[in-house]
Amino acid sequence: MKKLDGQTAIVTGAARGIGKAICEKLSGEGAFVWVTDIQKDEGEKTVQEIHESGGKADFLQLDVRDADQVISTVDLIYKSSGRIDILVNNAGISGNPAPVDLMSNEEWKDLLDIHVNGSFYCLKAAAKYMKMQNYGRIINMSSLASETSLQGFAHYAAAKYAILGLTETSAKDLASYNITVNALKPGIIRSTLTDSILAVAEERISASTPLGKIGSLEDVANAACFLASPDSRFLTGISIIVDGGFRLVNEMDKVMNEMIPSSI
Ligand SMILES: NC(=O)c1ccc[n+]([C@@H]2O[C@H](COP(=O)([O-])OP(=O)(O)OC[C@H]3O[C@@H](n4cnc5c(N)ncnc54)[C@H](O)[C@@H]3O)[C@@H](O)[C@H]2O)c1
Repeated sequence: MKKLDGQTAIVTGAARGIGKAICEKLSGEGAFVWVTDIQKDEGEKTVQEIHESGGKADFLQLDVRDADQVISTVDLIYKSSGRIDILVNNAGISGNPAPVDLMSNEEWKDLLDIHVNGSFYCLKAAAKYMKMQNYGRIINMSSLASETSLQGFAHYAAAKYAILGLTETSAKDLASYNITVNALKPGIIRSTLTDSILAVAEERISASTPLGKIGSLEDVANAACFLASPDSRFLTGISIIVDGGFRLVNEMDKVMNEMIPSSI
């Protein structure tokens, strides 16, 4: 018996990257996974790969910015699967970096639309069914950027902070229906989103990470799977940082490293 046998999961932005890895992990634990994404070809390929490894999954094209499309997609999933146990609000983009005073309004709105409005629309649509079944696990994708406020990414940081607010508030609103709402805060994880950062700073980031490497998609998927499983039943309104300790390191550590004998 696998941990998620008989459960149904929806993952947004699941055609590639972290979302795809979460789908693979959840289906490996027995869940039927609905892979959703704006990208049809890559999304269908993800489903095909899950089938090839013995998992159960299907694809639906979904732009999380479209509230009506979110409702009809979630309704269709419930009609087809008969339950919705897990929702992972993962869809996202990084946006282009710019100093805040030079950032375009369009870019700002689009970032918040995908991350914040998209997560809200999906949460609301899935919660309707989770309340009926008195069970649900909702996982929202925040970021370490919600703690460290990455320079040049005001839109991204604002969106990821907002996702924490959404997580904490909805955790309280939905708790009496046995629905938990938690967040993940990945640091720098190897994906298309971080290609350009890693191209210039991979060595520096690895060296500044206590666990000594760049995070993998699987590292985030493992944490998501824990939050999605019955094992996390007494956790709600929290966020798990998946960063190998990166946030802990500061300039003083470099000074201390020079001062402390290496045998200590
Ligand atoms: N990679 C990292 O280091 C990192 C760190 C912290 C947080 N995150 C977050 O993790 C999530 C996934 O990131 P990733 O690294 O896998 O990126 P990615 O670019 O590989 O994947 C993002 C997916 O989201 C989809 N998407 C984009 N806009 C969408 C929309 N409007 N509707 C539906 N799907 C849409 C894309 O098509 C893509 O498949 C994002 O929310 C990101 O902010 C990533």
